[in-house]
Amino acid sequence: MQNINSVLSADESGKQVEIRGWVYRIRTGSKICFIILRDSSNIIQCVGKLEDLGREKFDQLASLTIESSMEIKGSVYEDSRAITGYELKISSFAIFQRNDNFPVSKDISEEFELDNRHLWIRSREFNAKLKIRSTIFQAFRDFFIDNGYFEVQAPLMVSTATEGGSTLFKVPFFGEDAFLSQSTQFYLETFIFSLEKVFTVSPSFRAEKSRTWRHLTEYWHAEVEVAWADNNQMMEIEEKMIQHIVRMVLEKNNEELHILGRDIKVLEDSLHPFQRMKYSQLIEKSSSYGMPLKYGDDLGADEEKQIMSNFTRPIFLTHFPEELKTFYHRPDPQNPSQILCHDLLAPEGYGEIIGGGERIWNYNELVERIEKNNLKKDDYYWYLDLRKYGSIPHSGFGLGLDRLAMWIMHLGNIKDAIPYPRTVRRLKP
Ligand code: 4AD
Repeated sequence: MQNINSVLSADESGKQVEIRGWVYRIRTGSKICFIILRDSSNIIQCVGKLEDLGREKFDQLASLTIESSMEIKGSVYEDSRAITGYELKISSFAIFQRNDNFPVSKDISEEFELDNRHLWIRSREFNAKLKIRSTIFQAFRDFFIDNGYFEVQAPLMVSTATEGGSTLFKVPFFGEDAFLSQSTQFYLETFIFSLEKVFTVSPSFRAEKSRTWRHLTEYWHAEVEVAWADNNQMMEIEEKMIQHIVRMVLEKNNEELHILGRDIKVLEDSLHPFQRMKYSQLIEKSSSYGMPLKYGDDLGADEEKQIMSNFTRPIFLTHFPEELKTFYHRPDPQNPSQILCHDLLAPEGYGEIIGGGERIWNYNELVERIEKNNLKKDDYYWYLDLRKYGSIPHSGFGLGLDRLAMWIMHLGNIKDAIPYPRTVRRLKP
């Protein structure tokens, strides 16, 4: 048994091959039947003739419907008129399942498509997206493994918030309240005292009530924590990591990017250095980006969308005012009202895909920030312990992989970048 991609080659021309898959399209006349068969790798035009198959088999073939599953034997020939340049002449076939009408087609409403994602992920378009996602996840892991990091696993049922209480999901836990993890960051911080450079890839949960084009309630979060690193070094690592991922997608998924109609020039441009800009500089220039802002304003989806429509390459935005970021970020010793953090904003209007920076590593400073944020010190006893025993400077970041995928594939909504999106009111399929 071969996959379709492997039979689309001059070397196979004239040879007998055997393939399996699903009917992607079918067109039939009285004596000839064209089936476009798909498998995970590609599609191929197959042709069955009455004179070769006989009446009974020909009628069986001609009665197949979209998404029926089958196996075909035959010989393959180069044919420039066929959709992928080759045609397979059917000598015999077997049917696994003949369908009734497949419910999902191209012209369906967004709601219907989302309700039927379990079927829609078979589409050529979704097949391309899933392949690109697979490359993104693999490239992320490879980058860090190749650079001496260790992959670790953190719990996802937790007792404390990392990113503020408003987006916490509460779950019953044997008479107590537990929460679904918003970020594994605090656990990753514990691991660096053993392994120094660590990463993890896992879901994060945010009870985001607003429905925006870039928020999911469950998303894939790639997080990294590095002993001894400062904010600048962290940005260097991230820039190389993003470029590695983009390079791998360009190398491995040219065909898929083409299916999605992605203009790859922007991706190629992102292989050049990323600009770094302080929050205060952005505010000064904000009118020229078409989004007038004043110092202290937060950047949400709309603001970032407008600002980043002026850019064709990702930028790092640094030194946010303390009030805009979570309590664990380290203030800049030169200017303590600003913190040593960064967001990586994707171009073409996409905005934030990474949040990261230096962590407070002084015990008293951290206690002060916990209290200032009206949090309970006891809830963070183990996080504080890290600042009591052999504390060190360190930094880290969290990358939203679905947001990265959305930008790389140039999609209009994050729901189209993940196979099974979870958003407000969507818990199926
Ligand atoms: O900026 P965030 O909230 O930072 C953290 O969670 C840190 N603890 C990460 C760390 O330093 N280890 O989230 C990080 C990234 C964002 O930049 C964004 O890409 C993604 O996670 N993200 C979301 N993606 C989809 N839907 C949501 N609701 C998201 N919230 C955050």
